[in-house]
Amino acid sequence: MCGIIGAASSRSVGKILIKGLQLMEYRGYDSAGVVLNKEEEILRLRSLGKVSKLEDLMISKKPRALSGIAHTRWATHGAPSEENAHPHGSHDDIFIVHNGIIENHEEIRDFLRKESYEVTSETDSELIAHLIHFYNKDTKDTLKALMRATKDLKGAYSIAAVSQKEKGKVYAARQKSPLLVGIGIEENFIASDPLAIVNITEKFHMLEDGDFSVITKDDAVIFDNTGAKVDRDELKIEATATATTKGDYKHFMEKEIYEQPECIGNTINGRLGENDVLDNVFGLGSSDAFREVKRIHFVACGTSLHAAKTARKWFEDICEIPCYIDFASEYRYRNPIVENNTLFVTISQSGETADTLAALNYAKEEKYIGIVSICNVPTSTMARESDWKVFTNAGPEIGVASTKAFTTQLAALLILALSIAKSQEKNPEKRKQAAQDLRETPALIEKAFKLKDEINSITNNISSNDNALFLGRGMYFSIAQEGALKLKEISYIHAEAYPAGELKHGPLALVDETIPVIALAPEDSLVEKLLSNLEEVKARGGTLYVFGNSSSTIEIKKGKFINMPECGDFNAPIVYTIPLQILAYEVACLRGTDLDQPRNLAKSVTVE
Ligand code: F6R
Repeated sequence: MCGIIGAASSRSVGKILIKGLQLMEYRGYDSAGVVLNKEEEILRLRSLGKVSKLEDLMISKKPRALSGIAHTRWATHGAPSEENAHPHGSHDDIFIVHNGIIENHEEIRDFLRKESYEVTSETDSELIAHLIHFYNKDTKDTLKALMRATKDLKGAYSIAAVSQKEKGKVYAARQKSPLLVGIGIEENFIASDPLAIVNITEKFHMLEDGDFSVITKDDAVIFDNTGAKVDRDELKIEATATATTKGDYKHFMEKEIYEQPECIGNTINGRLGENDVLDNVFGLGSSDAFREVKRIHFVACGTSLHAAKTARKWFEDICEIPCYIDFASEYRYRNPIVENNTLFVTISQSGETADTLAALNYAKEEKYIGIVSICNVPTSTMARESDWKVFTNAGPEIGVASTKAFTTQLAALLILALSIAKSQEKNPEKRKQAAQDLRETPALIEKAFKLKDEINSITNNISSNDNALFLGRGMYFSIAQEGALKLKEISYIHAEAYPAGELKHGPLALVDETIPVIALAPEDSLVEKLLSNLEEVKARGGTLYVFGNSSSTIEIKKGKFINMPECGDFNAPIVYTIPLQILAYEVACLRGTDLDQPRNLAKSVTVE
């Protein structure tokens, strides 16, 4: 989703800004733009499509400017176009870039029209530039004008702004949309994503909601919503060069799939003892608090929601407590009934997903016994807003389609189930088994990677179809849903997942000789039932691709049986995810899609 970078430096900032945009390309965008506050004039360049186009444009102008702002836009208000791309300006003086959504944009547009402002784009963002300009006529002070303008805005925003009259200065404001200040040597930065500047500084201050900042090359000052100077904690974020490059892989998604053994190791390291989870791995006091938990409410979006759905069985089996699961975008609109002793759990790779954060804020006002977050980004809003948390430690996930985020979330959820069960002294034998299974997971994933050639033998057939059906039962229905999501988002094949027992209640009508049916048949208590359901597919001449093991005895005339490594009960769902990720990746490669940045999608969805 949209990305912001701003810089004030003793060196020319053009390349810094373009590089920052490139490092945020993974978030998904449709246009890009930059404003360079040159000595003699202010230069604005915008282009539809890739940042490389903007870069070519900038190189052709050879600008030298010591401050500027830049943006990648993911369209919300107004189509992707050069006119709608940021930065937006007012009277060739104030220029801004904006992430988020201004909910009262109609009202502001009417006000500005009455004040004779000409609005040239369809965006809500342009209005911010005009508002600052309007208030600056009175205040004659850009910071005060920015502060006054934000009082009129309803919604979520992070803003970076420059004034043509003030070379070497960048202003910033944050409300419900991430923004941080980066501290360099003879240069300072504003960014919505630390990855944009992590190659040039490791020192950051995360702005809080209501904060403003002014940076120059020598100084970075932060103000709270009363205008008082404040100190925000310094964070150190180190990114190894390999974290943000593809290395020898063709795509980030491929790299991230094959990183999973190491990532799962990082999720469990330091959290498991010999036979059990360690105490307080979710933070001080968490083990005591978990003693009181009688039910859990999970809220998340997309892949993270699939992680919750998969993990539900662990909480029911190991903790013996019921779980409720909601789409974050639906949760607060249905006035959920919160019973006593309910724990609220959010799951998010980015920790910045607007729907999930809104749900979290809603939950804070309800009588939950606490809020736990499972998150991959330690500096995220979600991490800060939660009572207890565990980081998945998967490292930056750049590919838009989540892979390592999902499997590490599953590992973290199992750790949460173990922590609650341990606090409540339940099922020590199951806990021991689960801890052992978790430790064996990385090696089993390595074994699953060896199936790549077999998977490649079926990808032609899948990529030549426009539909695919995924089947599973129990936890493997949720894994099938995740497999279908992966396939659809990167290959644009319409893919649906069903619990195999539901087939006969409708979806069986889709089965003919052409549609590929992909089934997960691990050795579990439901395998016999699943195999009967697959016979229903065979009887209709369907093509079956079954991932199973020795107990899944099914003769396949059309399709293929792929033999999975023998897994433990607690790690099989994680391991069975791997071939589905490889399948989606290889099919998308055959179809030639832009699979790290699939069409219409963004990595971190910071609007509702
Ligand atoms: C799918 C995918 C999305 C995200 C969803 C939530 O591959 O990545 O469905 O899972 O947008 O994002 P987070 O986990 O960052 O809250």
